[in-house]
Amino acid sequence: MQDCYQPKRENNLLSPDKTARMKDAVDAVRAVTDKKRANGDTPLYHIMSFGCQQNEADSERLAGLAELMGYSHSPTPDGCSLVLVNTCAVREHAESRALSLIGQLKHKKSAYPDMIIGVGGCMASQQSRADTLKHSYPYVDFSFCTTELWRVPELVASRLGGGARTFSVTSEALSATDFSEDIPVVRASRSHAWVSVMYGCNNFCSYCIVPYVRGRERSRLPDDILREVDGLVKDGCRDITLLGQNVNSYGHDLDCGVTFADLITRISQLDGDFRLRFMTSHPKDATPELIEAMAKSRVAAHHFHLPLQSGSDRVLSRMNRRYTSEKYLNIVRELRRTMPDIAITTDIIVGFPGESEDDFAETLNVMREADFDMIYSFIFSPRRGTPAAEAVDQIPEDVKSERFSRLIECQNAISRAKNELEVGEVQRVLVDDEPGKDGDVTGRSDKNKLVHIVGGTPAPGEFCRVKITRADTFALWGELAEDRTAR
Ligand code: SAH
Ligand code: SF4
Ligand code: F3S
Repeated sequence: MQDCYQPKRENNLLSPDKTARMKDAVDAVRAVTDKKRANGDTPLYHIMSFGCQQNEADSERLAGLAELMGYSHSPTPDGCSLVLVNTCAVREHAESRALSLIGQLKHKKSAYPDMIIGVGGCMASQQSRADTLKHSYPYVDFSFCTTELWRVPELVASRLGGGARTFSVTSEALSATDFSEDIPVVRASRSHAWVSVMYGCNNFCSYCIVPYVRGRERSRLPDDILREVDGLVKDGCRDITLLGQNVNSYGHDLDCGVTFADLITRISQLDGDFRLRFMTSHPKDATPELIEAMAKSRVAAHHFHLPLQSGSDRVLSRMNRRYTSEKYLNIVRELRRTMPDIAITTDIIVGFPGESEDDFAETLNVMREADFDMIYSFIFSPRRGTPAAEAVDQIPEDVKSERFSRLIECQNAISRAKNELEVGEVQRVLVDDEPGKDGDVTGRSDKNKLVHIVGGTPAPGEFCRVKITRADTFALWGELAEDRTAR
């Protein structure tokens, strides 16, 4: 590993022009929010977030911008002066849920006409959906793209000043490399943090909308990432997840030789008591160097999320995934050889166009062979603009649902058996910041499994040791071990 890289970009700060525009807009909004406060009224903001961790990370930046503009956080949209909706487009269900919640904002805005509503995220980054928002949701004030968070203050300032509603998607915005190292972040959790290492995706899997709404791959500079992780650990953060649509191609666009394996190694050299996770890894780029860096790391949690999507080579090829089921299983074998206690999880799509009963049977076979701890399973959802949506051999809904049920049934038995094997072990668990729904104390093991901690009151946001006493398909139960500390 090199000590010093010379990335082809000097920094990923906003350009001076965008910085000046953002600052002016923040000042303009601030004048309005300050006035409201001076009149005894607290201007509130609320953010609704859908989709993946990348969106949650973006929402933390939107919260940072809202606070910079002088708004205070509210847990509900009622009575808010600013409501931002961060949408997902990965499946139809995600879009319809967002649209239905945006629909409900109509009454909230009638009750509080000062409310400004902005819609961002992956759904709003498609011009057709931005047009729908413009024409069918007249109380929405503006939309913005995934890469244009910095523009939000300008859009708010413009509406406050009586400017027109704006709904535009520019393709150039989707590939910008000045992705706002300098936008403040208000984190939802103290003990756990998302750290984006790269944005966008170049893979164009034939079913997936993400490359169209998040643009091309752009990596953050290694030193910026190290500085952020170091700061988080010093502030007491215990669980850090590095994010990217395909973290294994981290650094390719920087042209300086840095790889994701290097990044893991360098982060592992930082001081402090924390654990490191990352997602998502694409099997076509999962290298032996990455597995080695992970196995050697002092802090990398032994959990690997490796999306399979399908166990049929014919379907994988039509999905444009660029690996075979054999290559996939070889990575699984290598992970288990180097880290025998590793938990492996995956994503699987059922009902991809042309998927035959034999193809589906191959998915079940690979699933059994890989012995996953858990899967995230999805019914194929055609996304307008992607090649798979145009395929003529779409699978009927009832066949998709029936396969989906069989897939879940097969995996549930595997998950339960694997969880039961953990009974009797003493594991390190990071206690959640807040108790669970029924007041239960919960946490996450290194394998990222949900653990209900029975008896005792471990400190929220800290590691403890738990003896596992019971397991079911989706969770573990355990008691605080005699030696409670994890160090
Ligand atoms: N970049 C990650 C995941 C992105 S989306 C990766 O490559 O693995 C998360 C998951 O949603 C995907 O892994 C896939 O299983 C699922 N997904 C994506 N597009 C889908 C679609 N059109 N229909 C159903 N599931 C989809
Ligand atoms: Fe979508 Fe494939 Fe990119 Fe993942 S790697 S975001 S599934 S195109
Ligand atoms: Fe959804 Fe966009 Fe993430 S489509 S899954 S929020 S990258």
